[in-house]
Amino acid sequence: MNIAVKKSFRRQGIAKLLLDSIESLCTCNQVKSLNLEVNENNFAAINLYKKFGFSEVGRRARYYDNKFDAILMRKLL
Ligand SMILES: CC(C)(COP(=O)(O)OP(=O)(O)OC[C@H]1O[C@@H](n2cnc3c(N)ncnc32)[C@H](O)[C@@H]1OP(=O)(O)O)[C@@H](O)C(=O)NCCC(=O)NCCS
Repeated sequence: MNIAVKKSFRRQGIAKLLLDSIESLCTCNQVKSLNLEVNENNFAAINLYKKFGFSEVGRRARYYDNKFDAILMRKLL
C-alpha cells in the first residue's frame, strides 16, 4: 500500500530497487498493469514513478485534506 524509505537512506536507489522487486513479482504472476495514486505535491514520488515508467491516467480532485489532487498513475507490464 505504501512505499517509503528512511530519510537518511534516500537518493541511493532504494525505492527504485523496491519497485523493481514489485514489478518482477507482478510479472511472474501475470499481472497486466500497476496502478497507484500520489499527492500532486509529492514531487519526489512523482519523479520516481515517472522515471520508472508510470504515466498519469487521471486525477481525484482535492483528495488529500480537501486541498491537493490525487494523481492516478499506471504502468502497463
Ligand atoms: C519517494 C521515496 C520513496 C523515494 O525513495 P528513494 O529511495 O530516495 O528514491 P530513489 O533513490 O530510488 O530515487 C529514484 C528516482 O526518484 C526520483 N526522486 C527521488 N527522490 C527525489 C527528490 N527528493 N526530488 C526529486 N526527485 C526524486 C529521482 O528521479 C530519482 O532518480 P535519481 O536519484 O537518479 O535522480 C522517498 O522520498 C520517501 O520515502 N518519501 C516519503 C514517503 C512517500 O512519499 N512515499 C510515496 C507515497 S505515494
